Amino acid sequence: MTRPEEKQSKKLFIKTYGCQMNVYDSERMGDALSVSGYSVVDSPEGADMILLNTCHIREKAAEKIYSELGRMRPHKEANPDLKIGVAGCVAQAEGEEIIRRQPMVDLVVGPQAYHRLPTMLDHVKDGGTVVDTDFPEEDKFTQLPRGPKAKRAPSAFLTVQEGCDKFCAFCVVPYTRGAEVSRPPARLLEEARDLLERGVVEINLLGQNVNAYEADGWSLARLIKEMAKLDGLKRIRFTTSHPNDMGDDLIAAFGEEEKLMPYLHLPVQSGSDKVLKAMNRKHTAESYLKVLERIRAVRPDIALSGDFIVGFPGEEEVDFQATLDLCKEVRYGAAYSFKYSPRPGTPAADRAHVDEAVKGERLKRLQTLITEHQFAFQQSMVGQTIPVLLERAGRDAGQMVGKSPYLHAVHLDAGPEMAGQIVNAKILHSERNSLAGEML
Ligand code: 5AD
Ligand code: SF4
Repeated sequence: MTRPEEKQSKKLFIKTYGCQMNVYDSERMGDALSVSGYSVVDSPEGADMILLNTCHIREKAAEKIYSELGRMRPHKEANPDLKIGVAGCVAQAEGEEIIRRQPMVDLVVGPQAYHRLPTMLDHVKDGGTVVDTDFPEEDKFTQLPRGPKAKRAPSAFLTVQEGCDKFCAFCVVPYTRGAEVSRPPARLLEEARDLLERGVVEINLLGQNVNAYEADGWSLARLIKEMAKLDGLKRIRFTTSHPNDMGDDLIAAFGEEEKLMPYLHLPVQSGSDKVLKAMNRKHTAESYLKVLERIRAVRPDIALSGDFIVGFPGEEEVDFQATLDLCKEVRYGAAYSFKYSPRPGTPAADRAHVDEAVKGERLKRLQTLITEHQFAFQQSMVGQTIPVLLERAGRDAGQMVGKSPYLHAVHLDAGPEMAGQIVNAKILHSERNSLAGEML
């Protein structure tokens, strides 16, 4: 039997890679393990358990994790009782292979099995190992034990949907995260209320394909509207969406729901219909642009962001030009672009690849254009008065960093006691990746 004081003393270090869904998962794993007496620390030194919450979306993810595990060796040598676990999408993809290659790993847990972590600990306690990469029927988040009601930062993630049925030809998500599953709305509203009690005022609804959300007859738009009724909730965002799932009600919500922020991350991946077809995106450049046009009609100030892949197999210069053209037409407020990286087991992996140097050169050209648009958008904020949600202390004393409705970081003179408040600020200048303003 463990005495309570021993229970309190165990330290858990979680290193998170990849997307916001992993950030959310890591927080929930921390909550779940707090029930087993672990508290989260921010360095691996002296930890009793280290969890790597991994991402598999682009190349060499697994190799990076093996080298990271190699770097954990001194910690294990210093403390032979240290437990090391690998979670997330690399765990799902590699499974037992991880323990075969790195015998000091005790635990391999896929993204659908986190609610079983406390029981797994019982197995590894006495030197055993566990590999759990099953896809269970039940909602893993509902099953996760809750931690104490600790205060939270003003902005929080809430995973509402997981998995993807789209099978884009380059993407591992449908294999590592499985089929689309939406969490029941009642649970989500309950979790949202819990977050509000802990000081959260902005909720970012997460899903690999969040706008495909559907549970108990509720669409994402309905969920947003019901959530907006919660007292104390000031801002709602959602990410990541697929163009084909932008339903009429969701588009309308941008015009109707004040708490829904005017920002949409809507990846297109390429501006060439030939490449979009080869990617199995199931939309064209034109149908994508039509969706944006409809959103802009109801919310003219919407800021758009997107993802792009350059050098997908079969992409020629003319296709890449079509991507640049689409970018020029949309003028994204922010966008993320990547060189195509072949993922084993996905349909595009065995196709003839574009030369690496060509990929690199295209990426540079695309990023130059995107950065130009991003700066112009930031510059257009100068002189405007906008509501800023104050979130955390800034670099300098007496400064806070907040967020504009359009997801810009905004630096203001304010004290930490103002965290969670929305203030009106006049934007004075635009910096490299942020804005600076004064509170009115
Ligand atoms: N190669 C490069 N980029 C990829 N992405 C997903 N899979 C790959 C891949 N194999 C990018 C897409 C996606 C984002 C999360 O990561 O642009 O929208
Ligand atoms: Fe991957 Fe997104 Fe395509 Fe789903 S929609 S397969 S998550 S890129």
